[in-house]
Order: sequence, then structure tokens, then C-alpha cells
Amino acid sequence: MEQTFIMIKPDGVQRGLVGEIICRFEKKGFSLKGLKLISVERAFAEKHYEDLSSKPFFSGLVDYIISGPVVAMVWEGKNVVSTGRNIIGATNPAASAPGTIRGDYAVEIGRNIIHGSDAVESARKEIALWFPDGTVNWQSSLH
Ligand code: CMP
Repeated sequence: MEQTFIMIKPDGVQRGLVGEIICRFEKKGFSLKGLKLISVERAFAEKHYEDLSSKPFFSGLVDYIISGPVVAMVWEGKNVVSTGRNIIGATNPAASAPGTIRGDYAVEIGRNIIHGSDAVESARKEIALWFPDGTVNWQSSLH
């Protein structure tokens, strides 16, 4: 079954949108397969966005992603990569339709709340980067 990587960026976490975003993916019918609240270092954020390293906004983008904790998630379901992108809305919130996450909650391209993999292959790479030990942590006992 297809999987995608979804990240709620620091502004989405700070603004209390985690529950709303999870709700939208759950109500659509997708299954949550992995989730963690995590602060990442500069080198890790640069790795995640390495395809954009030549863009003029790259260092600002990395500053933004490391400015606070993010929620990293894996969602699973039929066509979840492309449908997830539709739920999220266009990269620039000025162009994202009402009813999408960015269309409803964002105005700035540099503060667009959420990231979703753009293709099945990038989802595979991003899931491997963010969840190198798998998506479920098994513990034999809790203390
Ligand atoms: P995301 O879906 O995470 O993919 C790449 C990110 O780069 C994008 O969301 C935006 O946060 C950011 N981005 C893309 N274009 C610009 C831009 N022109 N200025 C600032 N940030 C941008």
C-alpha cells in the first residue's frame, strides 16, 4: 500500500494545528503509520531539502524548519501521495484553494505549515530519512 511522508512545520505546531491536520487525513480515510515530535539540526534539514539547495530561499527555509519542533508522520492509503498533496493545497498559500490546509490556515509561502512528499519515490526517501529505525518503536517495558 502506498505511503507518504507528511511534516507539520514549526509554525503549524506552534499555532496548535496538529490535531486539525491529523483529523483531516484520518477523516479522508488514510491510516497513520508513524508519528513523532522532533527537533532537527541544520544538517538534517539541509539533507531533507537537498533538492532545493541552489534556491535563493534555501537557507531561510532551513532556518525555519529548525526553529522549533516539527511533527513527522507517515500516512498510508490508496494514492495517498497525490491525494495528500491535494489535502495540503498548493505550495504558495496565495494559490491554495479554500478547504485545503494551506488555503485555510496560511498566507506566506515561507510559513506554509506543512510538507508532503511530491512523488512515491520521494516519499520512500523521506520516510527512510526521518524514520531510519522504522515507524513503530517496540519497548518490552515502560518505566
Ligand atoms: P514544501 O512543501 O516543504 O517544499 C519546499 C518548501 O520550500 C516549500 O514547502 C516552502 O516552504 C519553501 N518554498 C518554496 N518556494 C519558496 C519561496 N519562493 N520562498 C520561500 N520558501 C519557499
